[in-house]
Amino acid sequence: MNPPSALSEAEQNELLATAKHACENAYAPYSNFRVGAAVLLASGEIFYGCNVENASYGLTNCAERTAVFSAVAALGAKQVRIRAVAVVNDRNVACSPCGACRQVISEFGPDAEILYLGPSGMQRSSMHELLPNCFGSDSFT
Ligand code: THU
Repeated sequence: MNPPSALSEAEQNELLATAKHACENAYAPYSNFRVGAAVLLASGEIFYGCNVENASYGLTNCAERTAVFSAVAALGAKQVRIRAVAVVNDRNVACSPCGACRQVISEFGPDAEILYLGPSGMQRSSMHELLPNCFGSDSFT
């Protein structure tokens, strides 16, 4: 499969705006660190998620995984090819996806571009930079 093409400025802006909107629904009473994420699919559709914490801390779901799972739940995995993911938070710190989220994003978007907002503006990385030599289905099939 071909790698996804570069994002237009309009696509970036819409993705970031959607992530900011999702951040408003974050449930983060324990960390007080509210995160929103939005995923852009190859189809052009955008899905979003926020972090959802739990009194049993380890059950917390990050915003990025919520967004990916939401896309899969809505469309079915076959329709989910991630082109890009935007991540924002309410503290304006540069927050790239955690290790668990990188692995989940990689399942549906090994070539995805990751955008995350920080104090110096938008930073970007590729999944190949964030999770080199990653484990995937081709590791054991
Ligand atoms: N969190 C995310 O939602 N995404 C990230 O990329 C990093 C961390 C959440 C998990 C937890 O609810 C809070 O931020 C503090 O770790």
